[in-house]
Amino acid sequence: MNSPRLLQLHHDADDAAEAAAGLLRPHAALAPKFFYDAQGSALFDAITRLDEYYPTRTEAAILAEHGTAIADAVRGHTGPAPVIVDLGAGNCAKGAALCALLAPQRYVAVDICAEHLAGALAPLQREHPALELVGVGLDFSRRLELPAGLAGTRALVFYAGSSIGNFDPVAALELLRQARALAGSGALLIGVDLVKASDVLEAAYDDALGVTAAFNLNVLRHLNTLLGADFDLRQWRHVAHYERAASRIEMHLEARAACLVRWRGGQRAFAAGERIHTENSYKWTRDAFAALLREAGFGEPRHWSDARGWFALFVAGGRGRA
Ligand code: AVJ
Repeated sequence: MNSPRLLQLHHDADDAAEAAAGLLRPHAALAPKFFYDAQGSALFDAITRLDEYYPTRTEAAILAEHGTAIADAVRGHTGPAPVIVDLGAGNCAKGAALCALLAPQRYVAVDICAEHLAGALAPLQREHPALELVGVGLDFSRRLELPAGLAGTRALVFYAGSSIGNFDPVAALELLRQARALAGSGALLIGVDLVKASDVLEAAYDDALGVTAAFNLNVLRHLNTLLGADFDLRQWRHVAHYERAASRIEMHLEARAACLVRWRGGQRAFAAGERIHTENSYKWTRDAFAALLREAGFGEPRHWSDARGWFALFVAGGRGRA
């Protein structure tokens, strides 16, 4: 039996400085990666099970219904037994489903949190003793690059869950170009959340149980640890709304009252009603996303969707125009 190999390419020292700089911007803002400490990852898992949060189960249903066709499309680019590179692999549940479908030679799970990966890869190895498993701790929102040889020349890059939605269109294009370089003449399989009615979108990001509110507020708890900050979570309120003009859900934390927040090496005063911007989640039309893939250099994309047209899985070959 093989055993998972772990590579740590991410160093949290840079994270603290980045978070502090975000708090000091005129409009305070934090990158979504700060949601995902251990508590935040657990809250995100709970989000994926909410009635209102349709993306995870819709994506899984599309993969369950069209898995054979999707696997055939992928193998048309990668050949049999590909290397799978799973971006933002997290608990590796989707990666495991894909491994069952594609019988890869190697599965490379990439996530900002390498510990999370170690726990997820061990049971996967027991299921597939001969599969080569690699966990890579990497913040690919900065730059998507893996050690030479790890992805081979015809990899399947898998980016599930519509996490591409965290990137604005310019940054998304750049990430897709890097994904194409990583795939070589292989392929990309990517989940994309689609434009739809505002009430459906807003309920998905402001659920009745308050799990998304807890997920958003948890970022302040994380900063209390990471920065030695003194955020009082009861002073902040979760806000989520759909900006149709920008085609994105915005999440913010709003100060209920004026307050002063201190951390190691800094502080900031917030007025009542002032906000910290914590996340954008862009929604795409199928045509606009297909155009983005072509612009990133991929070949003609194919996609599969659910009956309501709420979510899409795209497959695009790496051998597009250069
Ligand atoms: C992990 C980025 C896909 O945007 O839907 C869920 C994160 N934020 N609820 C999303 C999230 C609030 C999620 N992604």
